[in-house]
Amino acid sequence: MLYFNYKTCLTKDIIVKNNRYMKGCDRMDLPVLYNEVEEWNYYLMLYNAALKELNTKLDILYNEFKLAHPYNPIEHITSRIKSPQSIAKKLRKYGKDLTVENIIKYVNDVAGIRIICSFVADVYRIAELISKISDIKVLKIKDYIANPKPNGYTSYHMIVSVPVRLTNITVDTKVEIQIRTIAMDVWASLEHKMCYKFEGDTPEHIQKELKACSELIAYLDQKMFSINQEIQNYSSIQENYYIDTRNKYDTIESIGTVEDVDTGDKKDKKKQKKEKKEAGRKRLLLGFGA
Ligand code: GTP
Ligand code: MG
Repeated sequence: MLYFNYKTCLTKDIIVKNNRYMKGCDRMDLPVLYNEVEEWNYYLMLYNAALKELNTKLDILYNEFKLAHPYNPIEHITSRIKSPQSIAKKLRKYGKDLTVENIIKYVNDVAGIRIICSFVADVYRIAELISKISDIKVLKIKDYIANPKPNGYTSYHMIVSVPVRLTNITVDTKVEIQIRTIAMDVWASLEHKMCYKFEGDTPEHIQKELKACSELIAYLDQKMFSINQEIQNYSSIQENYYIDTRNKYDTIESIGTVEDVDTGDKKDKKKQKKEKKEAGRKRLLLGFGA
């Protein structure tokens, strides 16, 4: 494997800066894809394209939801390309060399999207809708809400593949989608920030405290959900209105046809043509055409 010095690192930084994936080399010993830069840039282009495709699909889903439901279950969506440091760290953890082939094969979250929902039920609703989007193939699901990680981490993970259509070929490209509630996201973000420095060696008493916080988060989510359900009962009339609207639009299958509009101009031309033809016929009848 090749390692490179600080000078080379700066050159590399320039090469990849358009792909927003390297902000600077803070680790001198970071092994880098020395002679595979071009190949890696190609894959980065695919991962970026897959994120764009998926973001567009989710944007449509989001807008459709806003129109057809009394409240929007999606709070916000973020996406990112994994930093080279994190990619290298993950492969090191798996005991694999840092090669393009290994990244493609073993790192499932080079391209990642995070969807933050209001309530737990929304997480499952969104997951189901995503799995129904044509084009998207669900490759793997990890339900850390039904089965939280031992440290208390909760979230719903999907690895999906998105077709990226290039000029000559279509490449199925994988993206990790994390779906969780606002409360789950608070826990995950803070835990990540706080425990990052321990590199998996978090002191036991801190682990216990974090686990306890995770249980509080689960309680909070459950409580908020039941309060919201009660509120929804108050506004059931409004809900019916939205259901009616949704059903109305469900029957629209296409607005993708082109009609020729008969303008006055066209009519005139047709009329002129007809009159000319008629005049010619009359001339023939009267014997002028012979
Ligand atoms: P690694 O466990 O990171 O090797 O990934 P994996 O391929 O086994 O997938 P997993 O679904 O476990 O984790 C993928 C991503 O979820 C991570 O990159 C994190 O963003 C997030 N994640 C997983 N576990 C934790 C956790 O304990 N704390 C936090 N804050 N995030 C986590
Ligand atoms: Mg993990």
